[in-house]
Amino acid sequence: MNLSFLPYLLTATQQERPETTLDGFLFPVQGSEAAAQHDHVFMILMYVAGFFFLLINAATVYFSIKYRKSKSPEPPKSSSHNNTLEIVWTIIPTVLVAWLFYIGMDGYVQRRYAPEGSYEIKVTGQKWSWNFTYPNGIQHNELHAPMGENVRLIMDSRDVIHSVWIPEFRIKMDVVPGRYTETWFNATRAGEYPLKCAEYCGTEHSSMYAKVVIHDRPEFDQWMLENGNLLADLSPVEAGEKLFSIKSCVACHSTNGTPLVGPSMKNMFGSERKFTDGTTAVADENYIRESLLEPNAKVVEGFAPVMTTFQGLLKAEEMDAIIEYLKTVQ
Ligand code: CUA
Repeated sequence: MNLSFLPYLLTATQQERPETTLDGFLFPVQGSEAAAQHDHVFMILMYVAGFFFLLINAATVYFSIKYRKSKSPEPPKSSSHNNTLEIVWTIIPTVLVAWLFYIGMDGYVQRRYAPEGSYEIKVTGQKWSWNFTYPNGIQHNELHAPMGENVRLIMDSRDVIHSVWIPEFRIKMDVVPGRYTETWFNATRAGEYPLKCAEYCGTEHSSMYAKVVIHDRPEFDQWMLENGNLLADLSPVEAGEKLFSIKSCVACHSTNGTPLVGPSMKNMFGSERKFTDGTTAVADENYIRESLLEPNAKVVEGFAPVMTTFQGLLKAEEMDAIIEYLKTVQ
């Protein structure tokens, strides 16, 4: 039996603990500094609770047998108090609980606010996609971050309450309309992780996730470079196709004719659209533009008015590129 976790129980902070001990035991892989600390506190709680569970149940069984009715038909006289016993069983749990509070609070405080000088990424949640804005203005539907650096997520929602949850980093924070919330991480391994929405937010809540990609610094800079020049490096149609995916349009609009939450974009351009108010219009550039900026002005028949505006999330050139791309989806 591997007892290497025993010394691990006695250390109070993650820094004092060997890094590989019980890595991800009962949990997803430990992908951030917070993960190791979080699991450490959890395991302490679990072992303390387990110890008392066994102790109390063993005592219950032992006393049930020892004082069973056939051996002591008269109910025992109720004893008065025992000072020593009462002092011991007050002091030990008090110390234990104070210690648990301390390690829990310590972790909470460290995780609550990002250290100064963190790399900042703006996170926007909207039904039902995530958008990440990097300090140089690049927007993407994937969260890319450098390994071993503090990354602060400053987050808000364009509609309802969502929640950013990255299980491998052991972070979760609500994303609320009308105010900013924040969380942070320092990723310890390169790789891909899922980011999930952890607050029920409507029909497509369960598919509201984003890819988290952790790179080493040079690879991260390279990714920035490639994605920063989308419009300069690609033709409008190619850039539009990438943007259609990056801006998460694909979450609700297929390009193969299958209706999802919203109508498919196949053969949309130039077609006659019927709307829920009984009116019709031919889909041209202005129709697409209006649909991006005021999605609920004209809602296609058979669909619910659930799309949120892309006002402020799309630059003019990006909107042009998406329109050029949609013309080609036939
Ligand atoms: Cu967004 Cu659930």
